[in-house]
Amino acid sequence: MTNDKKIWLITGVSRGLGKALAQAVLNQGDIVIGTTRSGKADLSGDANSLKLFELELTDPAQIKQTVEAAYQLHGRLDVIVNNAGYGLLGALEETSDEDIQRVFDVNFFGVVHLVQAVLPYLRRQRSGHLVNLSSIAGLAPMAGSSLYAAAKSAIEGVSQALAQEVEPLGIKVTLVEPGAFKTDFLSAHSIVNSHTKIADYQPTSGKAVQHLADIAGKQLGDPNLGAQAIIKAVESEDPPLHLVLGSDALKRTRAKLEAMTKNLDAWEAVSKSTDFLDLATVL
Ligand SMILES: NC(=O)c1ccc[n+]([C@@H]2O[C@H](COP(=O)([O-])OP(=O)(O)OC[C@H]3O[C@@H](n4cnc5c(N)ncnc54)[C@H](OP(=O)(O)O)[C@@H]3O)[C@@H](O)[C@H]2O)c1
Repeated sequence: MTNDKKIWLITGVSRGLGKALAQAVLNQGDIVIGTTRSGKADLSGDANSLKLFELELTDPAQIKQTVEAAYQLHGRLDVIVNNAGYGLLGALEETSDEDIQRVFDVNFFGVVHLVQAVLPYLRRQRSGHLVNLSSIAGLAPMAGSSLYAAAKSAIEGVSQALAQEVEPLGIKVTLVEPGAFKTDFLSAHSIVNSHTKIADYQPTSGKAVQHLADIAGKQLGDPNLGAQAIIKAVESEDPPLHLVLGSDALKRTRAKLEAMTKNLDAWEAVSKSTDFLDLATVL
């Protein structure tokens, strides 16, 4: 009965992008297995098409059990969306060890543990699509979000290497890199701000964090349109490794690439100067 429907496992369907994506997937007739920390979510779907599990991403044992239970429901998983996550703002020097640990526990280790738990099933199927929510911060970081950017950059690195490891096994990987989307992301419900403030960082990190506070509720990105874009990428014959979402994110990515090219050009001779001369022509 479910053979022509895709089975989606999506983390963090209580709010924001995860909720919008889960509802869009349900509306098009696919099946959603969603996770939330409460085990509840305000989504419209019947018992055949929607199943919710309670999942706290800092709990590796619970991740393993949830993935296993999710797989057993339909004997298959087609699309796995690592969506749940949150932002941490403040200059590097202002950020506590506790906050650094937690942002990596949720945004990085939570994703890694879930991907590790799901891969044995996807390898057996010789199919599946891993969609990992990164951020424009993971591609082109700005002052004031260094540790959030670090966790998302780590997801970028993992996903790009993983894509090469699993491509011969029929498994696809897509990194979603949103700009500012109008979700709870910048609200007090989600965002964590460093408690320490150092005046020297006011013109850099302080200014950037203030800008984010100013745009809260006025973000450019529509989560429902973001959900449609993710579905489009998943349904594509040739899904992208990078799905940059929002014209703000696109602009920042292009600026980053241009700056990187300029940097490489300016230092090309030095870059090449470190090769063993006798090997330089061989490689
Ligand atoms: N919105 C943006 O501007 C933006 C930009 C770039 C990237 N992103 C990324 O997009 C993803 C979705 O964010 P969003 O904008 O939809 O934010 P959101 O509205 O704040 O929703 C975040 C979701 O993550 C869940 N979550 C947070 N911490 C968790 C934990 N420890 N364990 C399990 N679930 C947890 C939340 O569940 P609870 O309801 O239980 O808290 C919620 O469902 C995140 O990975 C975020 O980093 C967002």
